[in-house]
Amino acid sequence: MNCNSNNNNEKNNVNNFGYLNDGRVSTVITLKNSQGTEISVSNFGATITSIKTADRDGVFKNIVIGYSNVTPYEKGTPYFGATIGRFANRIAKGKFTIDNTEYSLPINNGNHHLHGGDKGLDKILWDIEKIDPQQVLLKTISADGDMGYPGDLTVQVKFSLDNNNNLRIDYQANTNKKTPINLTNHSYFNLSGDFRNQINNHELILNATQYTPIDSEFIPIGELRYVRDTPFDFTKSTIIGKQIIHTPSGFDHNFVLDKEIEHEMYNDLYRAATLTDPISGRQLQIYTTEPGIQFYTGNFLNGTLTTENGQPINKHTALCLETQHFPNSPNEPLFPNTILDPGTIFRSSTIYSFKVTSKQF
Ligand code: BGC
Repeated sequence: MNCNSNNNNEKNNVNNFGYLNDGRVSTVITLKNSQGTEISVSNFGATITSIKTADRDGVFKNIVIGYSNVTPYEKGTPYFGATIGRFANRIAKGKFTIDNTEYSLPINNGNHHLHGGDKGLDKILWDIEKIDPQQVLLKTISADGDMGYPGDLTVQVKFSLDNNNNLRIDYQANTNKKTPINLTNHSYFNLSGDFRNQINNHELILNATQYTPIDSEFIPIGELRYVRDTPFDFTKSTIIGKQIIHTPSGFDHNFVLDKEIEHEMYNDLYRAATLTDPISGRQLQIYTTEPGIQFYTGNFLNGTLTTENGQPINKHTALCLETQHFPNSPNEPLFPNTILDPGTIFRSSTIYSFKVTSKQF
């Protein structure tokens, strides 16, 4: 689709999102539903730039960190709202082997490769394939050798907002050479809509009885460990602040989702997480087809970046719940497979369902 983003398209809420350093124009598309929920997505990095939802009194606020112009995204953020790929999370030492060929990826996080490298899918201007009032489809082709990965990889991501306040993200990809793939969305949530508040008062349920323990460089040690009787136990609704104090600097861990609980299925997706802000009453329920979820409490936010209105973004003022395959899977044969074969189609879906809870007395 040829989208002339210089013109405001009232019907579809398509707007100019500013110019990249090389002069190309970026676009932002705002999806609106009958409940007044508004979600904006830019084709730069297939990034969610804002999610405006109501609290229990009907007050709408933006609950994710984001900007109204492409410039801060192009300069670089810790992946605010972006689509992450080709491989979300870490690949140890940036190395993996497929059919006896060793591949080397750029090292961009300590000794390791993180989130697809320094010019991953989050830094690409995606093509806009289709826009409907409540749906946008983006596409990009990552060429053979891009960021060291094998194969020409075609990736599509579709964002759909329905009238029940479900934002569904559907990923699809294919390749012409075997290649690892792991796609996620990296939104930073604070359900109060005020990023001066810490997320410590939020209550979290993770549908996970196990997690993947990591070494001092955040690489899984290859085993699954039970969360029971540890600070990682979020199987029942738990105030994050009560557990975070038992961790060195917060959570930055992959949880293994329990998929066998049939009544928790939402169509073909399983319930992964429920996050609640007891003060505003906003609640986020997450469903996914993925086997894992990275719970990251914004430990590396340190006040140097600011929100759109100039507030410093401090540690633990936002959190990510990144549905994914397990970190470093290409080097861990016992983890669920992340190698995509030519001739097969990669599919992955996640739903963010926005609710409100009534006041607890
Ligand atoms: C990772 C963190 C990282 C953050 C921002 C998360 O997905 O788990 O370790 O700091 O992304 O890059």
